Amino acid sequence: SKPGKPKPKLLGFEAIAPSTDDAVRVPEGYSAQVIIPWGTPIHSRGPQFKKDGSNTAAEQRRQIGAHHDGMHLFPLTGSSGLLALNHEYIDTTLHYTDGSATITQEKVDKATAGHGISVVKLERDKRSGKWELKDSRYNRRVTTDTPVEFSGPVRASHPLLRSNNAPKGTLNNCSSGYTPWGTYVTCEENFNGYFGTDEAFTATTEQKRYGITATSGYNWHKADARWDIAKNPNEANRFGWVVEIDPFDPKAAPVKRTALGRVKHESATVTESKGQVVVYTGDDQDGEYVYKFVGDGSWRKRRAKRQSPLDHGTLYVAKFNDDGSGVWLPLEFGKGALTAANGWADQADVLIRTRSAADAVGATKLDRPEWVAVNPDNKDVYLTLTNGVGNGGTVNPRKPNPYGHILRWHEKNGDNTALSFTWDVFVLAGDPAYDPAVQLGPDNIFGSPDGIGFDADGRLWIQTDISNTSQTLASKGYDNIGNCAMLAADPETKEIKRFLTVPRGAEVTGITFAADGRSLFVNVQHPGEASTAWGAPTPANPRAVSNWPDFDPAGRPRSATVVITKNDGGKIGS
Ligand code: FEO
Ligand code: CA
Ligand code: CA
Ligand code: CA
Repeated sequence: SKPGKPKPKLLGFEAIAPSTDDAVRVPEGYSAQVIIPWGTPIHSRGPQFKKDGSNTAAEQRRQIGAHHDGMHLFPLTGSSGLLALNHEYIDTTLHYTDGSATITQEKVDKATAGHGISVVKLERDKRSGKWELKDSRYNRRVTTDTPVEFSGPVRASHPLLRSNNAPKGTLNNCSSGYTPWGTYVTCEENFNGYFGTDEAFTATTEQKRYGITATSGYNWHKADARWDIAKNPNEANRFGWVVEIDPFDPKAAPVKRTALGRVKHESATVTESKGQVVVYTGDDQDGEYVYKFVGDGSWRKRRAKRQSPLDHGTLYVAKFNDDGSGVWLPLEFGKGALTAANGWADQADVLIRTRSAADAVGATKLDRPEWVAVNPDNKDVYLTLTNGVGNGGTVNPRKPNPYGHILRWHEKNGDNTALSFTWDVFVLAGDPAYDPAVQLGPDNIFGSPDGIGFDADGRLWIQTDISNTSQTLASKGYDNIGNCAMLAADPETKEIKRFLTVPRGAEVTGITFAADGRSLFVNVQHPGEASTAWGAPTPANPRAVSNWPDFDPAGRPRSATVVITKNDGGKIGS
């Protein structure tokens, strides 16, 4: 823009009110379209979704998986793209005709087929403006049974990774990222919950550090010994990684990039500085850490040598000082506390036990570090801290912290490879009616920020995931906030406006844009998730009841992708 001419307002839309409706709400002048709900066949001749949960495992393998989360749209020619999409978990009450009463191998197989990733071609119809799934040689499913490879310092041949079955599958794929060389990276989050046993079992220190116990919510181990932590303990070491998938090569195996560490990964946000690749990743559990991987040398030269830029580099963990400064501490075998004398065997050992390594170097505990976004204008880094007990220090200022906050840091000289930074709290989430420190109002009160991302024009998009716990909404101060929401923020002025609200019981997660910035894709996950926080799911307490998006009394709620467009064809948020 010309000097002296004021910049146009970044947030040009009218904020919407909090909502408790069983619907997706968007501002005046915008439209929302539901696409690819759970069970949609990924090829036009594939098996149709059965609304009573009676699709088989073999059918689920050829359908869109369950519980959509992180995603990225890779542009193809014209107004089409390949959408790579995570399926985080399944809800046993929705996934089967008979819920979780019994467990069989077929039910385990349908569950593992409901997890993983979908890659599907989407195209915007020129006349109607609607987005549609198209047949394509790229359309595929990656599930918890797809053969995978391990690369980087931890190989599949590592003694701690040898289990009773070949290396296969990815699990609990929550947040995601994408690389400058056109691949998708997906995060394995709460992998511990899939393992259990009926044998006598005492968890090791390392198993405890990742929350592995004899009890599993899914009980897969009762039908399939792969998931029996006593009989097949090393299988759990194959999860908790960032996995790279090439959406343009349907035959290529997913690759677990072990140099990025083994935690409950949330976000694998890739940026570059000085030609080097940098990946930020959270570890979503209260009191865990935020990590950064810095690639060695030019990523382009690595690629030219047919090496992966994600296999060669250093993993760091953040230490936030109370004075607003911070440093990145290396998780490198032989450095600092991570020596043979202290019981560390080699770099593979450091990476398999990433959490313990981060403990040993003195990283800073955070209130559930989830998604990371990098401002394209100045390379500042934003991190959502969803909520928590309040882990202390000025970096976790509220105790307890039921609403969360968003941290921001500026790497030294704006260089994302730098090893020191300065930080501040970008926004403290919540409702001023319950916490006077909160500087938000009717247009923007929100709680539990989770997904976060920038668009090309520099708007920061914030998505919430209010957990459906046993607490009532009033008892945790969420009664004015309504259903989960997506908000847009101006990173300079800190203006924040509510842009979208999702159906009852759902979270909103996943952010990606069409190349022209005129279609925004988000996911509605777990509509109608039954819990007393939203009232028991009875007609007398209807706030728990969602039948979105089909509204079929004989059907069941389904996670789905929603595409938002502006009716005048403009950029989203403008
Ligand atoms: Fe799966 Fe941390 O959200
Ligand atoms: Ca999340
Ligand atoms: Ca969630
Ligand atoms: Ca979440």
